[in-house]
Amino acid sequence: MTDPLALDPILAPTDPGARPWNDDLPHDERFELFESHVLAGGKIEPNDWMPDEYRTAVLRFVEMHANSELMGVLPEREWIMRAPTLRRKLALTAKVQDEVGHAQLLYRVAEDLGKPREAMFDDLLAGKTKFHNVFHYPTKTWADIGIIAWLVDAAAIVAQQALRDSSYGPYARTMQKICWEESVHIMHGRDVVVTLMTGTDTQRAMVQEALDRWWGPLMQMHGPRSDRTKDRDLHWRIKAKTSEELRQEFLTIYVPRILELGLVIPDRELAFDEATGEWRYADPDWAELRTVVTNHGPMSEERLEFRRLNRAATAWVRDAILSEPRSAA
Ligand SMILES: [Fe+2]
Ligand SMILES: [Fe+2]
Repeated sequence: MTDPLALDPILAPTDPGARPWNDDLPHDERFELFESHVLAGGKIEPNDWMPDEYRTAVLRFVEMHANSELMGVLPEREWIMRAPTLRRKLALTAKVQDEVGHAQLLYRVAEDLGKPREAMFDDLLAGKTKFHNVFHYPTKTWADIGIIAWLVDAAAIVAQQALRDSSYGPYARTMQKICWEESVHIMHGRDVVVTLMTGTDTQRAMVQEALDRWWGPLMQMHGPRSDRTKDRDLHWRIKAKTSEELRQEFLTIYVPRILELGLVIPDRELAFDEATGEWRYADPDWAELRTVVTNHGPMSEERLEFRRLNRAATAWVRDAILSEPRSAA
């Protein structure tokens, strides 16, 4: 399902002449003009001059996001054939298609920054670039599909909504479309979970068991606390919130929603501290996060190998489409 407004062109035309840092000025002067535009809330477009550090930082950020959308379909894909009803199968298929579409849009944004798509696939499959921790884990039961679409997508949308204000124009506009679709995914996930929670004891136990397994990776997902003043991505408004701000926002919105369904969150230390206005929680396992995102997670190698085989099997399509047209003899 697509919001018609989201069909506006992803790349807006810009007038390079109206942006003073595009003039041929000494580097430091350009840099200053560029930075004051960004810090004042302005957007940067692909054909603008930008410092190499900014280009590299946006590329790294968008490329990891694209990789995560692409790899993120694999855990859910496994359940399309096992969905319990036709309606569920259709919804899950549509979600998987949406996520591949997100990857497509984001690789397109990343390409503009100077790294060819094939090079991004090479690096992903060689383990040189990363994808989000939550997509390195197995999906053991149908309840995992509900928990992923509801809570993994919810944790992601908290971050993605903040990215709609990104200083890099194409990324900000792409996130508007993606967020709209993500919000539908969350409704789908919650519907799967609510259906199971209003079913039998076995179904309720299945959801609780899935939540128990996914809670740790969910709490690790946004990463360890970081120092706002030292974060270059925040300084340049490539992103808007720290990892801890995102985690707190996720907890504030979703803890009450999880509890209202009768689920138990597997963290005895989890509580809202009125004095600090923040959630307290057991320290997430950061060693596990490091292990998993460096492709040593339970399903990392299997999922990368699936992509490698798939890429080899579809090489003929790319060869046929991208090869030089042969002149007729
Ligand atoms: Fe997505
Ligand atoms: Fe999603």
